[in-house]
Amino acid sequence: MEALNAPRGTQDILPPDSALWVELEGIIRRVARSFVYEEIRTPLFEHSELFQRGVGSLTDIVCKEMYTFADQGGRSLTLRPEGTAAVARAYLQHNMANRGLPQKLFYLGPMFRYERPQAGRFRQHHQFGFEVLGAGEALVDVEVITVAIAVYRTLGIQRFTVLLNSIGCRNCRPNYLAILRESMTPHLDKLCSDCQRRHAGNPLRLLDCKNPSCQPYLDQAPHSAGNLCLDCRSHFQEVQRLLDLIALPFQLEPRLVRGLDYYTRTVFEVTSPDLGAQNALCGGGRYDDLVATLGGSPTPGVGFAGGLERALLILVGRRAMNSTPQPAAARPDVFLVHLGPEAQEKALLLSQELRQAGLAVDQSYDTRSLSSQLKIANRKNARYTVIIGENELRRGVAMVREMALGQQTEVTLTSLLAHLRTKG
Ligand code: HAM
Repeated sequence: MEALNAPRGTQDILPPDSALWVELEGIIRRVARSFVYEEIRTPLFEHSELFQRGVGSLTDIVCKEMYTFADQGGRSLTLRPEGTAAVARAYLQHNMANRGLPQKLFYLGPMFRYERPQAGRFRQHHQFGFEVLGAGEALVDVEVITVAIAVYRTLGIQRFTVLLNSIGCRNCRPNYLAILRESMTPHLDKLCSDCQRRHAGNPLRLLDCKNPSCQPYLDQAPHSAGNLCLDCRSHFQEVQRLLDLIALPFQLEPRLVRGLDYYTRTVFEVTSPDLGAQNALCGGGRYDDLVATLGGSPTPGVGFAGGLERALLILVGRRAMNSTPQPAAARPDVFLVHLGPEAQEKALLLSQELRQAGLAVDQSYDTRSLSSQLKIANRKNARYTVIIGENELRRGVAMVREMALGQQTEVTLTSLLAHLRTKG
């Protein structure tokens, strides 16, 4: 029979690497805490319509990349390809505005996109995301960019670039799209078939094209930031002024438009030269129309999400370069060795007591010889081995072996915990 492996584009996260994930998630939670964002957890699947309406039915994510299925009740459901639409849905569904505005939320978890897998690109990947709902000020755009940078700096990632653009709002965008479309019309027969489709349906996506033969034409395309209404222009200037004020370097990138349709005004990405072709550590922007698109009252929003796998790629690469040791396997404070059925029962009771006192306790589950149980204790790198034989049990004692020193002491069972504690 053929071996059953994990589906293409997915990864098992095995120990001890899983400890790195926990460390990374801990850092993200600490940054969230320092900027006072609260955690939100939404379902892994949603009604397909949420993404069609929220992310946009002409985007690649919705057209080509969604894992959509009908459930037993005939509903069309989709494994979430991203987190923002679901956060906006939950915000609306639970009247979260009643908790006071703005709502500052973060999430961590898997996302699903049917993409061609390659380094840094998976079909199941993990994102951390930060969203602010109910605040339209440029200061908030700057705050979420600062949150992203705080995460990467805390991780010790130093080499990155903040790319920034503004794609305007519902008032100025139609005019810009008309100018953009018109500027590309003379070159239409030289553009790729995707671009020809985008030219008709969603011209902003033209600027996303990576096809080398389209680049000379797209490089000449008019810039959205040069065609903003007064309000959008002053918002964009204020974002730049505040980033300068906090000395956060950024690069204006006129072709940055992002792959989701909900964006308005500010869009940004943080890229790293240490990633391959998939060089975006994170991306985000403002989405002032999303909540209204989903049926709510107009509510501004801004946020970003970053890929955990991409941050880890850099961390793991750096560890290898500095020859930093990989995370160690989980290590017991105490390994209980028991000899005979009564000792096994005593070990079970002791393990409960020691764990309640906060120690990490492991034991062998069968009745092997002393030497083979000691071998397990060594393999698990236990700090102490507590040996309980029938004879010791009768005398109410156990042998405590400090593995690093090879020293063994007899300790009464009643003082075992205190003894282990004084050892620290
Ligand atoms: P996105 O740019 O599609 O934005 O994804 C955010 C980040 O997730 C990317 O920058 C990348 O690091 C990671 N990522 C995306 N797709 C993959 C993949 N197939 N494999 C590995 N990593 C991936 C969003 O999803 C928006 N919801 C971000 C946002 C939040 N905008 C406003 N708020």
